[in-house]
Amino acid sequence: MMRAMTLHPAIVILTGAGISAESGIDTFRSGANGGPSLWEQHRVEDVATPEAFVRDPDLVLRFYDMRRAAIQTKEPNAAHRALARLEREWPGTVTVVTQNVDDLHERGGSHNVIHMHGEHLNAWCTTCDARPRWTGLLIDRPPCPACGARTLRPDVVWFGEIPYHLDRIQRALADAHLFVSIGTSGAVYPAAGFVRLARELGIATLELNLERSQGSAWFDETRLGPASEVVTQWVDQLLGR
Ligand code: OAD
Repeated sequence: MMRAMTLHPAIVILTGAGISAESGIDTFRSGANGGPSLWEQHRVEDVATPEAFVRDPDLVLRFYDMRRAAIQTKEPNAAHRALARLEREWPGTVTVVTQNVDDLHERGGSHNVIHMHGEHLNAWCTTCDARPRWTGLLIDRPPCPACGARTLRPDVVWFGEIPYHLDRIQRALADAHLFVSIGTSGAVYPAAGFVRLARELGIATLELNLERSQGSAWFDETRLGPASEVVTQWVDQLLGR
């Protein structure tokens, strides 16, 4: 049963790599910019698992050092900025739950952002659990600013690890009236399951993506196109432009 609309409906927006594709950041599974996707260039098991980090830490640290450096040369695009405008102008709560580890939502102007897969610009000290902001390299094993141990790793969630902030996300969904998914293939759980949870909660669901995804059938509506266009149009529509 559809949840009754209140005057200021809360919106939860799940974003994936597709929203950053037009900023020039590779997606994981489809070469959105004409080139090969990230997981076509690197095996997930070699660079994005705790086992890989134990087996070959230099390879993993170098991979994330490259990605961390790359995102700092990219800029938010119209889709990031549209979501920031929605947060500013919408009378209800707007929560962005992102699988992305870049900081383009924040640099686009969004404040209420939950990074469920961590952040490239944070390091994590596995000795003292500090999570200092980190823009430089980790390959040289710099000391942790909090405890001095040389045990910093990227603060990103690898396959086999539990995503962050799941309680906060569940609470945001429980209060939401609209769930929108943008630029994600719906291939990785638990994020891919949020649409089903939203349906169980009676929340309206909308998908904005370049092409139909594995999860499309679960949404009330799917709008196809590049994020810079479909997200901007949707936000304009919502704000009555
Ligand atoms: P994927 O690479 O799996 O999917 C990207 C989606 O974005 C695809 O459905 C594309 O069709 C769509 N897309 C591409 N360009 C677009 C554009 N310009 N506008 C709109 N949509 C576009 O990326 P994610 O779904 O984010 O996890 O991947 C989920 C997780 O898998 C990632 O967070 C990462 C990865 O392995 C971890 O590393 C734990």
